Amino acid sequence: MQSTDLIKPIDAPTPTKPGPTPHVSAADYSSMYAASLNDPDAFWAEQGQRVDWMKPFTKVKNTSFEPDNIDIRWFEDGTLNVSANCIDRHLADRADQTAIIWEPDDPRTEDARHITYAQLHRSVSKMANVLRDLGVEKGDRVIIYLPMIPEAAYAMLACTRIGAIHSIVFAGFSPDALGARINGCDAKIVITADHAPRGGRETPLKSNTDTALLHCKDDVKCLVVKRTGGQTTWTDRDYDCNALMAEASADCPAVEMAAEDPLFILYTSGSTGQPKGVVHTTGGYLVYAAMTHEIVFDYHDGDIFWCTADVGWVTGHSYIVYGPLANGGTTIMFEGVPTYPDAGRFWDVCAKHKVNQFYTAPTAIRALMGAGNDWVEKHDLSDLRVLGSVGEPINPEAWNWYNEVVGKGKCPIVDTFWQTETGGHMLTPLPCTKLKPGAAQQPFFGVQPVVLEPTSGQIIDGNDVEGVLCIADSWPGQMRTVWGDHERFEKTYFSDYKGYYFSGDGCRRDADGDYWITGRVDDVINVSGHRMGTAEVESALVAHPKVAESAVVGYPHDVKGQGIYAYVTLMNGQEPSDELRKELEKWVRTEIGPIAKPDLIQWAPGLPKTRSGKIMRRILRKIAEDDFGALGDTSTLADPSVVDDLIENRMNRG
Ligand code: WT7
Repeated sequence: MQSTDLIKPIDAPTPTKPGPTPHVSAADYSSMYAASLNDPDAFWAEQGQRVDWMKPFTKVKNTSFEPDNIDIRWFEDGTLNVSANCIDRHLADRADQTAIIWEPDDPRTEDARHITYAQLHRSVSKMANVLRDLGVEKGDRVIIYLPMIPEAAYAMLACTRIGAIHSIVFAGFSPDALGARINGCDAKIVITADHAPRGGRETPLKSNTDTALLHCKDDVKCLVVKRTGGQTTWTDRDYDCNALMAEASADCPAVEMAAEDPLFILYTSGSTGQPKGVVHTTGGYLVYAAMTHEIVFDYHDGDIFWCTADVGWVTGHSYIVYGPLANGGTTIMFEGVPTYPDAGRFWDVCAKHKVNQFYTAPTAIRALMGAGNDWVEKHDLSDLRVLGSVGEPINPEAWNWYNEVVGKGKCPIVDTFWQTETGGHMLTPLPCTKLKPGAAQQPFFGVQPVVLEPTSGQIIDGNDVEGVLCIADSWPGQMRTVWGDHERFEKTYFSDYKGYYFSGDGCRRDADGDYWITGRVDDVINVSGHRMGTAEVESALVAHPKVAESAVVGYPHDVKGQGIYAYVTLMNGQEPSDELRKELEKWVRTEIGPIAKPDLIQWAPGLPKTRSGKIMRRILRKIAEDDFGALGDTSTLADPSVVDDLIENRMNRG
């Protein structure tokens, strides 16, 4: 473990161009943070005014982390509409301001598009009417399986306009994963596109949807957006989105929603079982997304904000669409990948659109760092003011490169720790904070981190301590339940450490009281900033007819952060071969999607198990890390000799 106390905090740098006065100064932070904990009702009643309410709330916080009564409500008697907050209320002042800059996959064949608030209003209203005409009503679920095109934002906002609950499925997920989510939330309709271009390649989204729908109810409809114009099959359940929108009325009133009505469901991986549907609601989520977007990135009127995530992940929900648009901002929606057509793409887009805040993941930073500084240096990045990082701990080399080469030492880096479940940032420096490379540092307003002793669950007070990260009280952006399974919500987040929200991460509080995330303490791995449950990959592998058993662990990977390492025991009579290895890789891609493809597969004649049959993952992790000198006690294993074989034939020899 690195000695974090040796790291000297870096003063917040002075920007290249004179910028606006920051929303929050270092002194404000301390007093505002104290106020947020001393009187949450007063603090959040004020912050609640960031959004327009149809009926103002009179109650602010009504939350319980009590065992068997996990109940979270914010602003519960207020009513509002998210699409009205993200669009309509800006029309008086900003009808002609750009809301969304869309940047295509291939800049050589297509131009960027600027969509004003007035145009956004028209398109969203039309799409909302199309959905309504297709029978979508308040409370119905709508699956969105789209490329990063403006229609993805229209679809989200159209749902919120009529009170439908959207659930976005990342366009990189397979038909099986899509089908499971359609069925999981009993969706009425899937919005998809013909094809999704990305990095010069195309994913056949419509045909994936057709395959997924084979396993869904007959009455699920499919609304198809034209992206490439490529060929697709057409059946009775398919509707042409472009044609219907052309005909639809551009007048669609925004429905009144209760603050606690569900806004969206987003499936995410856990340590056990299949992905769970994280439910976020309307009022608290929007207030929290808007506030964190403005304060953490120091977003000011007229700034151009770019979050490089995909709307298929929570980062895209909160910081491409809802946060920036609630703030009347200009947000970039990028269809492509960091290295296409070349490794200068990110910097080309930053220069072209004069980006002020740039938010990306350490895995992308590491990949681009590897491509060399020339790609960055040939672009004018002088409009950048704040850089952000999200998804995994950022290693000091990547942090320094981001700071020096991209930010020219002039842009604070906000290393934002949060989760699908938290709706918005939880621990993060602000642009005014003295920075420590690699640390998420300090809680956002209203967030009460505690470090617990992992086994006893006792609070560890004081500094220079390490344990598991829990949160002691609710914040408005918190998820409310698991779709259709409140018990799973209680069990996953509130049962290991009673009275606290358990993040699943380990953390250290250093001598100055700053927080450092040390990574997941459960069976969740983080591959390129994407969360993967090892159980999910295992169940995909054992579904293959030649596989008897499998155990999946993470191992350190230079670019991805963690790679997927699979131990596979074959059925009796099956012989390992390179061909079978490829077959299994392909199998997992088809079952889940390309992001779940194992990086390394080791043939395991047996897995290390206790006498009661429990797989000793600790040992498998060590072998995968190529660190088998410190295996610990293996004498309790049913058959200690399997370990020697696994070491002998290990795949990662660093
Ligand atoms: C997990 C959540 C919500 C952002 C995208 C990922 C890890 C996230 C950081 C960070 C260290 C981080 C944690 C967390 N993580 N951001 N800045 N420093 N670790 O969302 O898929 O829900 O994953 O990502 O392990 O639990 P997610």
